[in-house]
Amino acid sequence: MRALVVYESMYGNTHVVAGNIADGLRATYEVSLVPVAEATAELAAGADLLVAGAPTHMHGLPNVATRLMAARAAAKAGSELRLDPDAGGPGLPEWLKDLGRRDGLAAAFDTRINDLPVITGRASRAIARLLKRHGYRLVAAPASFLVSWDTTLLDGEAARARRWGMTLATASKTHLPAHA
Ligand SMILES: Cc1cc2nc3c(=O)[nH]c(=O)nc-3n(C[C@H](O)[C@H](O)[C@H](O)COP(=O)(O)O)c2cc1C
Repeated sequence: MRALVVYESMYGNTHVVAGNIADGLRATYEVSLVPVAEATAELAAGADLLVAGAPTHMHGLPNVATRLMAARAAAKAGSELRLDPDAGGPGLPEWLKDLGRRDGLAAAFDTRINDLPVITGRASRAIARLLKRHGYRLVAAPASFLVSWDTTLLDGEAARARRWGMTLATASKTHLPAHA
C-alpha cells in the first residue's frame, strides 16, 4: 500500500511535521514524502492514502501574498528565519485545485501558533474541505501541530506527528478493501 505525504512549508516546520507523519506511516505504507513541487499527478493517482499539510497563514491557507510576506520577513536584516529549500514553490491550495476528482482516502494537517484555534485559525480545516470537495474520504479529523510565536516547533510536536501518522495508518486500514 502506498501513501503520499505532500506539504507546503516556508520556514520548515510543516516540512519537519510532514517527515514525522511519514515516519509514523512507514510501518504500514510505502511512503512518498514530497513538497508540492514534486507531487506529480502519478504519485497522487497511485496513493491509497493522501496526507496533505500547510502552514496556517492569516487564519487559513497560504496564498501568493502571504508567501511573499513570509519570504520578506526572512530576508529582513537580522532575521533568524530561514527559508525551507522548497519555499516559494507552488502551494498546496493551488495543487489541490488541480488535483481532479478521486475516490481515495486522505487526511489534513497544518502548523500554527500555539493559541486558541479561534484566534489562530487552522489551515487544516480548509485543506480538509478541499480534499472532500475532490471526493476524498477523511480517515481522521484535521490536525494542528504547534509552534511558538517565534516560529519554533514546540517540544513534543514532532513525536506527536509521528504518533498521528501511526494513527492514520491504523484508521485507514478499516477503509481500504481487503485485497489492498
Ligand atoms: C504571513 C504569515 C501569516 C501567518 N498567519 C498565521 C495565522 O493566522 N495563524 C497562526 O496560527 N499562525 C500564523 N503564522 C505562523 C505560521 O503558521 C507558523 O509559523 C508555521 O509553523 C509556519 O510553517 P512553516 O515553517 O512550514 O512555514 C503566519 C506566518 C506567516 C509567515
